[in-house]
This record gives sequence, C-alpha cells and structure tokens, in this order.
Amino acid sequence: MSGLFSGPKATVTKPGSTRSVFRLPGVYPPQEDTWLLADALRREDIAANTRVLDLCTGTGALAVSAAAAGGRVTAVDVSPRATTNARINARIGGHRVRVLRGDLVDPVRGRCFDIIVSNPPYVPADDDVLPTGGIARAWDAGKNGRALLDRVCEHAPELLAPTGVLLLVQSALTGVEKTQSMLEEKGLAVAVAARAEVDFGAVMRSRSALLKARGLIGAGQHTEELVVVRARK
Ligand SMILES: C[S@@+](CC[C@H](N)C(=O)[O-])C[C@H]1O[C@@H](n2cnc3c(N)ncnc32)[C@H](O)[C@@H]1O
Repeated sequence: MSGLFSGPKATVTKPGSTRSVFRLPGVYPPQEDTWLLADALRREDIAANTRVLDLCTGTGALAVSAAAAGGRVTAVDVSPRATTNARINARIGGHRVRVLRGDLVDPVRGRCFDIIVSNPPYVPADDDVLPTGGIARAWDAGKNGRALLDRVCEHAPELLAPTGVLLLVQSALTGVEKTQSMLEEKGLAVAVAARAEVDFGAVMRSRSALLKARGLIGAGQHTEELVVVRARK
C-alpha cells in the first residue's frame, strides 16, 4: 500500500511502463502490490477457457490483464465506483469481463475458477470496525490487518477447480505464516510466488506510530515486504 494518491487523478501509469490504467477518484490506484501480483499472474498458464476470478478488483487492472491473456474473467468488488471503473477499463481494453458488485465471494458462490487473484485490504487499522465507504475501504483491514485476508483464505479455496491456483498479495507485516497455515488447512500446497521490499506510502507512513506500538515494525522502519502467496489445490 505504498504511493497512495492524495487527490483526484484520472489515470495512473505503472512506473517504467507505457501502460496506463484509467482510474476514477476514490478507487484504489494500481501500485506495487497490484503490479507484483500482475507479474505473478502473467507466469500462470492462461488459455481461452481458463476461468479467472479477480476478488477485490478496484480499477480492474488485474482482471483486464487476465482477460488480455485470454482468460474468461469475473471480477468482484464491494465498491460501486470500483465496479464501474473495472467495467470501463474492460471496455477500453476491448475485453469481456463479468464485473459483479458484492461482498467478497458472495456474488460467485457455487462457481468454480482455475485461477483466483486477490489484492484485498491488508493495512492494520486503529480498530476492527471496517469502513463501509470511501477509499479507506481499499486498505483498512482491522487491528491486525487480516479481516479480509482471513476471509479470502477461508472462502477462496471453496471456489477453486481441482487443479486451481490462488494468488494472494499481502504485506509481510500482516502474517504470511497465518495465510500459509490457513490455506494448508484447506488442503492447498502453498509457496511464495514473489516478494518485494517497498517504501511505505502515505497510509503506512501515517500509521508508523501505531505499527511500532504494536511491535509490527522497528524504530525508523520505512519499508515493508510485499509477498505474493501461491496456493495450489
Ligand atoms: C487494495 S485494493 C486492490 C484493487 C486492485 N485489485 C489492485 O490490485 O489495484 C482492495 C479492493 O478491495 C475492495 N474491497 C474491500 N472490501 C471488500 C469486500 N468485502 N468485498 C469485495 N471487495 C472489497 C475495495 O473496494 C478495493 O477496491
């Protein structure tokens, strides 16, 4: 969650890339965690019939990337702005993406996917009350930062096809081991697909004192490790 925007911008461009993603104000701007996950997604086999689910889609950057690779993509987000944004990006890219609004897996219960990608909110917050609107809903994840991660670990495996893969990005500050053990309990084989050390962005910087008080970071720490967990059925 670094480099977070501080004003209304229409587009965000991946650093070092000519690619840009249209973004409505109030929608999470794609950034390091998005791109780390996108790179991991690109390493998966995606063919014409590959069913891909992008859980917590935001601008739809990952969904569009999967659709561009040829997948049959469904994207879910709780935010109406995000679902509108994802539909616009699918349209701009000329891709068919089924975009559904709802709480996590609710809109896709009973369905089956070959690949699930997710960049859920994972920043530790003051309390366990999750925002019900506004851009903070894209990162606030309760005191331990795991409110959404735990739900993804609990429910995403139920949606995976017999050889399906879950790709999930999070900060190492919010318990990669917990993610691993929850997914292993669901019978998945878990590995780290990618990791990257990144500077704190505005949100993490503003929570430095809180994170330090909780023993999550050391004095003067201003970076966090992002980790993409790959869990295979
Ligand atoms: C960190 S952003 C990721 C956006 C995008 N996937 C990316 O990587 O740039 C998290 C997204 O999760 C969405 N979200 C938060 N709570 C949710 C929930 N309960 N169900 C579905 N989406 C949720 C937010 O609206 C936000 O768009």
